[in-house]
Order: sequence, then C-alpha cells, then structure tokens
Amino acid sequence: MIFSAGSGLSHTWSPVWFVILGESTMEDSIETMLQDRDLNLLPPYKDNGALAAGIGALLMTSYGLWTMFTLPGFGKVPIRLKVPYLPSNVIQTANVMKLLEGRQGMLADLGSGDGRLVFAASSMGFQCTGFEINSVLLAYSRSKARWKGISPSQAHFINKDFWKTDLSKFNNVTAFLAPGVMEELEKKLMEELPDNCRVIACRFPFPNWPSTSSEGSGLDRVWAYDMNNIQKSTRVISSAATVSASLPQ
Ligand SMILES: C[S@@+](CC[C@H](N)C(=O)[O-])C[C@H]1O[C@@H](n2cnc3c(N)ncnc32)[C@H](O)[C@@H]1O
Repeated sequence: MIFSAGSGLSHTWSPVWFVILGESTMEDSIETMLQDRDLNLLPPYKDNGALAAGIGALLMTSYGLWTMFTLPGFGKVPIRLKVPYLPSNVIQTANVMKLLEGRQGMLADLGSGDGRLVFAASSMGFQCTGFEINSVLLAYSRSKARWKGISPSQAHFINKDFWKTDLSKFNNVTAFLAPGVMEELEKKLMEELPDNCRVIACRFPFPNWPSTSSEGSGLDRVWAYDMNNIQKSTRVISSAATVSASLPQ
C-alpha cells in the first residue's frame, strides 16, 4: 500500500511517500522520519532561531540600557522641553566653576546628570541641590555622594522635574540643557529667582538676556547672568516699549 504523508508532517518533507508493507513497518518508518527530522532537519532551524533570539535580546538590552541612562522620567516632560543626558566635559565644568568664583550660598543644578557640576560646586563650599528626572543617574549620583563622604547639606539630589519646582530659594543656578528650552527657562527664572542670583548657562546661552561675563570658547563656552542686571535691562526695555506706545503715530 502506498501513502502520501507530506502534508501531515511538515512541508519540508513533502512529498514523502511510504511504502507500507505492514503495520509495524509503517510505525517504524514514521518513527525513523521523526528521528531524522529531530536529528538532521531541525537543528539548523533551532540554531538560527537561537542566534536570532540572542541578537534580538542583545539589541533590546542595549536599547533598554541606552534609554535607561538617557531618557527615563521623560514621559512626564512635554516634548518641547525634553533634554537628553549629555555630561559636561572637564573644561566646561572648570569654566562653570570659574564663573562661580567669589560666590557662596545655595546652588541648584537644573538636570544634574551624574552629579559632576554638583560635586564640583560643593567642593567650592556651595550647598547644592541637583534636580534630576532620570532615576538611574539619580541613583548613581546619590551613591557617588555617599561614597565620597559628602553630606546631604553639601550636596543632595532630588528626583524632581525642575520645571515644576519653585527655585526662589537659590542664589546660584547652573543649567546645561538644550538650545530649544532656554527661552522658556528665561521666563521661569525671571519670575522666580531673587535679585542676587547668578545663573550660569553651559554651552547654550539664553537667547534674550545680556550676559555679565563668559568663559571659554566654542562648545566649552559658558555664560554668567546676574538677575539684578537682567531685571534692570528688562525694566528698561519694557519702559522704552511703554514710551514708544504712548507716542503719537
Ligand atoms: C545635558 S545633561 C547635563 C547633566 C549635568 N548637569 C552635567 O553638566 O553633566 C541634562 C540633564 O538634565 C536632565 N533633565 C532634563 N529635563 C529635566 C527636568 N525637567 N527635570 C530634571 N532633570 C531634567 C536630563 O536627564 C539630563 O541628565
């Protein structure tokens, strides 16, 4: 008797024909075929599948790690205010510290990353607060502070969106963010910061504020802004606008 068993097993087999000489012979043949399939045909598929799964897992892990370090917490921030993690380099950090020379008191770093600006400023005697929404960077900077033996009164890190935080108690602010958010930040800081506050912008200057001084060049340039200057110049601009509006056209 002759059977076609192709569609019943696997398309890789078809057409497969059995010549059945008896019941036991048919069972033996099927068993042999299944053994063949397991031993000879499936291993390459299994290997490829395992390889593909391995590569997939590796890619997913890399992507997961990348997003963990650069983007966590970002779901809560509106898209136009999103700023990814990019650490300031040694020269930028030194330039920021130069513009803080002679100052003291409380300092806020808006988006503190791995804490490097906070640690540098705390070593100059500031009482520093780092605001950071990336929980991995936050955990890293907190444990680094513990490891360095820095007390929370010198440096502490808060898991908070600085856009939603009142910054009025700080008389020093550092910000290494992104060009697209600096104008929005001008408005916030203008409303909240005290007259005696100095703001240092790292790499990306404020678009409308006159700077008091700057340090470095190119990508390493940082700018200092004194709030009393900013408030004065804003008052001058707004009174000039009022005068010009009151003049006959
Ligand atoms: C360009 S990095 C600068 C990091 C650090 N200040 C430095 O100089 O190395 C900006 C940091 O701001 C954080 N960040 C962005 N938006 C934030 C927000 N709304 N509140 C708190 N942190 C924020 C990011 O997670 C990132 O770590």
